[in-house]
Amino acid sequence: MQIKNTIAFVTGANRGIGKALVDALLAGGAKKVYATARDVAKLPFSDSRVVKVQLDVTNAESVKAATQDINDVELLINNAGVNAGRTAFGDIEGHRSDLEVNYFGVLRVSQALANTLKANKGTIVNLNSLVSLASMAPIASYGVSKAASHSLTLALRAELAKDNVSVYGVYPGPIDTDMAKDMPMDKASPSDAAKVILDGVEAQETHITPDAMSQEVVATWRSNPVAVEEMFASM
Ligand SMILES: NC(=O)c1ccc[n+]([C@@H]2O[C@H](COP(=O)([O-])OP(=O)(O)OC[C@H]3O[C@@H](n4cnc5c(N)ncnc54)[C@H](OP(=O)(O)O)[C@@H]3O)[C@@H](O)[C@H]2O)c1
Repeated sequence: MQIKNTIAFVTGANRGIGKALVDALLAGGAKKVYATARDVAKLPFSDSRVVKVQLDVTNAESVKAATQDINDVELLINNAGVNAGRTAFGDIEGHRSDLEVNYFGVLRVSQALANTLKANKGTIVNLNSLVSLASMAPIASYGVSKAASHSLTLALRAELAKDNVSVYGVYPGPIDTDMAKDMPMDKASPSDAAKVILDGVEAQETHITPDAMSQEVVATWRSNPVAVEEMFASM
């Protein structure tokens, strides 16, 4: 698919990678962007192609209200995410809240827009993570939820292929947003990452790697996934 003239729907669009994706979609010539956020007052866009929509991906009523009158979306970007940062011995509520946003949120919005995307032969892009592919113990709760979203990405891809809906996963390493502010390592900028993500969508890449670390790790993972498990276990 081409970004030019597309109609996109982005979750968690008020900051971080989601905001950068909306900016990149507009710069790439998108026809319309549904920019969604829990608080629409925080959406920082003035372009007339942006439609601001209230959406909390953990709330079924909110998902219904945000999607029920929409039939023109061609590109769904499931970007909204949280990282409670719980270890395997952390509280269950932290694990549950990561799953609620990062897995069930993706599932809810994908289900709600599935018929529209089928009718429009559209595309779904899920913001997964390198920890979708191997666990890092200090953020086990996040890794579990991102492994679930990765698995869901594969299931959606297989199930929607017959309807000509393409499904891509994004597997970022550290990107310089609020979520990664406590990670003392080199980080890609959200705007650079967003551009690589949209280039990957146009190139029909099933596994999109938007930064230097993800490019290196996913290259290793393709030939030797256990090596990535061992590398992350020592981090
Ligand atoms: N930054 C990284 O290093 C990195 C690496 C790998 C993957 N990712 C993934 O990339 C995506 C974007 O992350 P980011 O770095 O941009 O994070 P961020 O700066 O923390 O932004 C997270 C976004 O998700 C939204 N959100 C959280 N809970 C939500 C909910 N229940 N309903 C709707 N929106 C919700 C937030 O909205 P509020 O402002 O209302 O909280 C915010 O817009 C996430 O899926 C993340 O897991 C990020």
